[in-house]
Amino acid sequence: MTNSISATLSDDTLDVLFRKARTHNVWLDKPVSDALLHQLYDLMKYGPSSANSNPLRILFLRTPESKERLRPALSPTNADKTMKAPVTAIVGYDVKFYEQTPKLFPNNPAMREVFAKSPQLAEITAFRNGSLQGAYMILAARSLGLDCGPMSGFDNAKVDAEFFSATAGNPPAFIDVRSNFLCNLGYGDASKLFPRNPRLLFEEACRLL
Ligand SMILES: Cc1cc2nc3c(=O)[nH]c(=O)nc-3n(C[C@H](O)[C@H](O)[C@H](O)COP(=O)(O)O)c2cc1C
Repeated sequence: MTNSISATLSDDTLDVLFRKARTHNVWLDKPVSDALLHQLYDLMKYGPSSANSNPLRILFLRTPESKERLRPALSPTNADKTMKAPVTAIVGYDVKFYEQTPKLFPNNPAMREVFAKSPQLAEITAFRNGSLQGAYMILAARSLGLDCGPMSGFDNAKVDAEFFSATAGNPPAFIDVRSNFLCNLGYGDASKLFPRNPRLLFEEACRLL
């Protein structure tokens, strides 16, 4: 039975975004266009981040060559499905995000210095907001009909050395990026899903004070 709740979105839409959305491990042989990845970013970018920091950076791997560069960093259980996914997003965060603060937060450009003089504050701000932006990516992907398979089972140091070092072939803006999590994107094979695991009840996860 579908929960009928007070919402501005339809029940069907809430199913797509939340109630029927699953983490996928098996992918249909159906490509994801670069244009769709642009649409994905153009939705997710509107999710909020503190001081409009926008620390998230993404590498969308959608060629066999780029996937092969990732393979040595993957845990054995994540390797096959990642190689078969149409796209694998390396979701990272830029610890020097504050270089963009004067442009992104023109109402208080001095925030650049607040972050620049405290690497610890910059790191936690980048990780927190980059993680939030990664979650916005998952919801934006679902809203565009894509399925997601997020993963933390990989060697972050290996990914950073391969994809975000000065010798990785990226423009300078990607050199101070750290990997956070990976997310396979594509069209999942729903017939290969195992039953949904439970979630905590409101009473277990929340308190009304
Ligand atoms: C940040 C993150 C990391 C995850 N890491 C892995 C992983 O390394 N390997 C894996 O098979 N699943 C991984 N998962 C998938 C979760 O186990 C899955 O999303 C969760 O059990 C909920 O499944 P459901 O969306 O189908 O209900 C990860 C999920 C998230 C959000």
